[in-house]
Amino acid sequence: ARPIIIDTDPGIDDALAIMLAAASPEVEILGVVAVAGNVGIENTAPNAAALADLLRLDVPVGRGSALPMWRTPSNAAQVHGENGFGGYELPESPRVLEPGVPLLARLIEESEDPVTVVAIGPLTNIAKLMNEYPETARKIERIVLMGGGTLDVLGNATPTAEFNIWFDPDAAVRVFGFGVPLTMVGLNATHQALVGAHHLPQLLTSGGPAAKMVDHLLAGYGDSHHEEGAGMAQHDSLAIAAVIDPEVITTRRLFVDVENTGRLTTGMTVVDYLDRWGEPNCDVAFGVDVERFRRLLDDRLSVLDAT
Ligand code: BDR
Ligand code: CA
Repeated sequence: ARPIIIDTDPGIDDALAIMLAAASPEVEILGVVAVAGNVGIENTAPNAAALADLLRLDVPVGRGSALPMWRTPSNAAQVHGENGFGGYELPESPRVLEPGVPLLARLIEESEDPVTVVAIGPLTNIAKLMNEYPETARKIERIVLMGGGTLDVLGNATPTAEFNIWFDPDAAVRVFGFGVPLTMVGLNATHQALVGAHHLPQLLTSGGPAAKMVDHLLAGYGDSHHEEGAGMAQHDSLAIAAVIDPEVITTRRLFVDVENTGRLTTGMTVVDYLDRWGEPNCDVAFGVDVERFRRLLDDRLSVLDAT
């Protein structure tokens, strides 16, 4: 199995993504590290721990950055609810959380095989890892990130910026410029990955604790990209799916950088379609095999309650 670390701001779609990873034998979760984003770290860290308990994940959970690198924090509580899980309450976890960035470093160093970092929240922890532990960060095999977008769909936080990048664009500049292989799963891809409860029949008939939570989360997924009857964009699960089953997405190798000084465009991922700016640094997701993605989610999540 491919060793992965999940860096996350749970978060409704983060919860499904972590469930998908936990239920998939292709990946081995080494740890889960929380970051502020959808809601503050005082919620995302306990949410990550509570979810790890629900999934019986016997791995460390980290409490990462409470603030973006330089900017004033924001959140997306209007989408994810004040507690980050649309009001759904999990039992409080008794776990003791480790400081997030040192945990990332330790897990990367201790792993026998190179680690894939799946970043499904703002990139603050990852950028700090690059600043504080550059040698360790170079050992990362690949960062698969949910963030940004291409000309088809650029933004949700602003007309030009996707939330994870927009929340901490300075961190994103660091990550895109660092030189570790990147896969960018942006809004242009995730807006194709619409999932509603009716796409998860096996899971929802199982009636177990994971099914119960997912049912609630899908019903309460505020104003995130939602097409009536078609479902809601499962942004973060698509990034996990791309690691489990690369055929779920198609990619193009391109150079991507992030705007962090624009008046109208801060947080925009700028994709160099013209090859003007040198070597590609990123595999950018474009196509999504939606049926394959939905089947993967339903097959895997339904196993969670069976075991
Ligand atoms: C991303 O922002 C968050 O609200 C979601 O969890 C996802 O990671 C989508 O723009
Ligand atoms: Ca997220």
